[in-house]
Amino acid sequence: MSVLHLRQRPAWGLLAAHYQKMKGLHLKQLFGEDAKRAERFTVDAVGIFFDYSKNRITDETMKLLLQLAQESGLREQIDAMFRGDKINVSEERSVLHVALRAPRDATILHDGHNVVPDVHAVLDKMADFANRVRSGAWKGHTGKRIRNVVNIGIGGSDLGPVMAYEALRHYSERSMSFRFVSNVDGTDFAEAVHDLDPEETLFIISSKTFTTLETMTNAHSARDWLLAGLKGEQSAIAKHFVAVSTNASEVAKFGIDTANMFGFWDWVGGRYSMDSAIGLSTMLAIGPDNFRAMLGGFHEMDEHFRTTPFERNLPVLMGLLALWYNDFFGAQTVAVLPYEQYLKRFPAYLQQLTMESNGKHVTTAGVPVDYDTGPIYWGEPGTNGQHSFYQLIHQGTRLIPCDFIAFIQTLNPVGRHHDMLIANVFAQTEALAFGKTAEEVKAEGTPDWLVPHRVFEGNRPSNTLLLDRLTPATLGRLVALYEHSVFTQGVIWQIDSFDQWGVELGKVLAQRIIPQLESGTEPKLEHDSSTNALIRRYRKGR
Ligand code: F6P
Repeated sequence: MSVLHLRQRPAWGLLAAHYQKMKGLHLKQLFGEDAKRAERFTVDAVGIFFDYSKNRITDETMKLLLQLAQESGLREQIDAMFRGDKINVSEERSVLHVALRAPRDATILHDGHNVVPDVHAVLDKMADFANRVRSGAWKGHTGKRIRNVVNIGIGGSDLGPVMAYEALRHYSERSMSFRFVSNVDGTDFAEAVHDLDPEETLFIISSKTFTTLETMTNAHSARDWLLAGLKGEQSAIAKHFVAVSTNASEVAKFGIDTANMFGFWDWVGGRYSMDSAIGLSTMLAIGPDNFRAMLGGFHEMDEHFRTTPFERNLPVLMGLLALWYNDFFGAQTVAVLPYEQYLKRFPAYLQQLTMESNGKHVTTAGVPVDYDTGPIYWGEPGTNGQHSFYQLIHQGTRLIPCDFIAFIQTLNPVGRHHDMLIANVFAQTEALAFGKTAEEVKAEGTPDWLVPHRVFEGNRPSNTLLLDRLTPATLGRLVALYEHSVFTQGVIWQIDSFDQWGVELGKVLAQRIIPQLESGTEPKLEHDSSTNALIRRYRKGR
């Protein structure tokens, strides 16, 4: 199917005209006119009760957004992704993270080869290793069991593992400690290991390429630290280092036996890899059964995305709503607000997923876009954010659509905490949508001069995602929901959501600057005057 430029698609023009009507309509009016609004704008699927009624939409809006999805070839692109087509055009790669969670008997072809048995072979190898470490059968060099696991990685090789560990801590092996080192700032490594016993510590070096500056620097420091603690015995490396990578030769070069390497493939993007071998630390923490349950949750959402008509398709609806605000209301950000302490790293995880994917300025054909692409995703867990940045969401001058995420059952029933937490979710979405008028403020006896300060305009949109309980499967569903929502948006914008060329320039320039900082003789500097001065100043004081 050939797809028109976004602005030429009929639905785009219709949406632009429709926006002119919608921008003046208040949610109060929309709810007032329609007693069944909440019912109609709710989808209950895959264990997620998705209430999108508090959005600035009507039936007409949804009809046009769904038409835009059709005209953008979303159906065809979903099929292309699941079929293994090379939809990551700028890197000429397939995009098959869905294969990572496919059941054992599924068939997903990559260049004519069924990758599902390969995926399960790695999962089985991970499970065997995780069981041995967790049971104490795998021993460190001096015969002690492993009690500490340190994952060294960055970006997709860190954010997913950290987020999943925090999210699923309730299910984790509490007799073991899990740490994560990502930053090239030596403080990250130093603080992670300062109270650890090398005899009981296992490092997982996680890097798709095994060439990333930060990860390899930290990996070398970890090796030095371990050898210093184990009398320099090189043979200790085999018992205390494993690797997760696609690059066997670099792994071997580093000194890790490739028998202790867990592989994945170039058709898995870094930010889509937490359910691959990159999740080894997650599996060590929660055990293979829980890890497989998480994959099961991912797969359920994949199937929902692949097969459900768009009007009831959670990722499609979420993606379309985000696009509605981004491209028509000019909203620049989306706030993700999990009312669940265990999801405290979820917004940080989503930042890479959404922004590395959709922060693009040209189409797949290389033509500059003349519309806005990826919004900025950010957030903090509730209720903390309420006492910090919610002021701006309620009364500031910017429109910030919000995703509220909450669970009906808590994993830690403590007194009345959970009812209070959830009351805050519902109260916030209500306050954002309906606000408080000047008349209401006055009626409370507020002096006239204070009234404007206390008025809440309302009409601030939000989604509410209500789930039963945070489990490994729920986490899988949630992550896959956002993955496919990102995909939906990227298809409509006709961008490549799976490359990340934007991170390259800084990496190259840093490589040029490192020797200039470290050289014994004064280097010849040919940067701009600002960069030259900064380098000189640093050299003087280092
Ligand atoms: O920052 C760019 C990036 O390539 C991310 O996409 C990736 O997740 C991260 O670096 C880490 O890469 P690697 O796993 O190869 O070390």
